[in-house]
Amino acid sequence: MPENTLQRRTNTQPQTSDTPSQDGAEGGNYAIEVQGLNVYYGDFRAIKDIDLKIERQKITAIIGPSGCGKSTMLRAFNRMNELVPTARTEGAVLFRSKNIYDADVDPVEVRRRIGMVFQKPNPFPKSIYENVAWGTRINGFKGNMDQLVEGALRSAALWDEVKDKLDESGLSLSGGQQQRLCIARAIAVQPEVVLMDEPASALDPIATLRIEDLMQELKQQYTIVVVTHNMQQAARVSDYTAFFNMDEDRAGYLVEYGLTKRLFTNPEKQATEDYITGRFG
Ligand SMILES: Nc1ncnc2c1ncn2[C@@H]1O[C@H](COP(=O)(O)OP(=O)(O)OP(=O)(O)O)[C@@H](O)[C@H]1O
Ligand SMILES: [Mg+2]
Repeated sequence: MPENTLQRRTNTQPQTSDTPSQDGAEGGNYAIEVQGLNVYYGDFRAIKDIDLKIERQKITAIIGPSGCGKSTMLRAFNRMNELVPTARTEGAVLFRSKNIYDADVDPVEVRRRIGMVFQKPNPFPKSIYENVAWGTRINGFKGNMDQLVEGALRSAALWDEVKDKLDESGLSLSGGQQQRLCIARAIAVQPEVVLMDEPASALDPIATLRIEDLMQELKQQYTIVVVTHNMQQAARVSDYTAFFNMDEDRAGYLVEYGLTKRLFTNPEKQATEDYITGRFG
């Protein structure tokens, strides 16, 4: 793929509408626009007819019952579903006005610009330093690597804890530290969007709060989309919330999307209210 395929930037204005997915506002400040998205595993449709616009430099939470397609949705944002042989995607995911599923787009480049952090921290069995440096090195980074590693570890609020042991294995860190290392690794390649699939669900409450604080810091610079099972977490950390549910064929669909404050205090749909008040899911 030509390096500049994904580099066109849309001219953007601040976007203040409550329901960005539904109002079709022109000139919205979107990082990603999903249009008519369907993802199948073989014959099974896991998510159907999704239209969703993700606000730039905000935190968007995706919530919904187990199996409704939250992880599938998140992986559709950076073509990670392609790593599943049976998976098939229809529709468009626009990033910088370009459909990332177009034939001339390199999925590796997509994943560099739209990074991902997983539920279970998964550092490489390499040093802390190398965990952060590796991705930029294979991208041909020729600058000051020490500076880059330090910057990414500082951004991930991990530097002070590891600066004296950068040569130790990433696997020697605690779970919460490992997750922050994975976040440092994700941001070291300077993505625009960071996708997080239940990033704190394997962590204790203190480590969870650290990750949430970190997300608030990161949104100054990055767009974050986070899947969470934890309603309090969604309400605490996110600016926007997308609530997904399943139909009778277990296909996931978007029920309601809007400002988190509004969605949690005054949901439009009965299903949203039932879910956020713990009546199902
Ligand atoms: N690799 C796969 N092969 C086949 N079916 C899959 C695959 N991954 C997910 N599915 C199915 O797609 C649907 C959506 O799964 P997904 O993991 O996206 O849901 P989820 O909302 O993230 O669930 P959870 O909250 O439990 O993580 C489920 O019915 C699941 O069984
Ligand atoms: Mg999931």
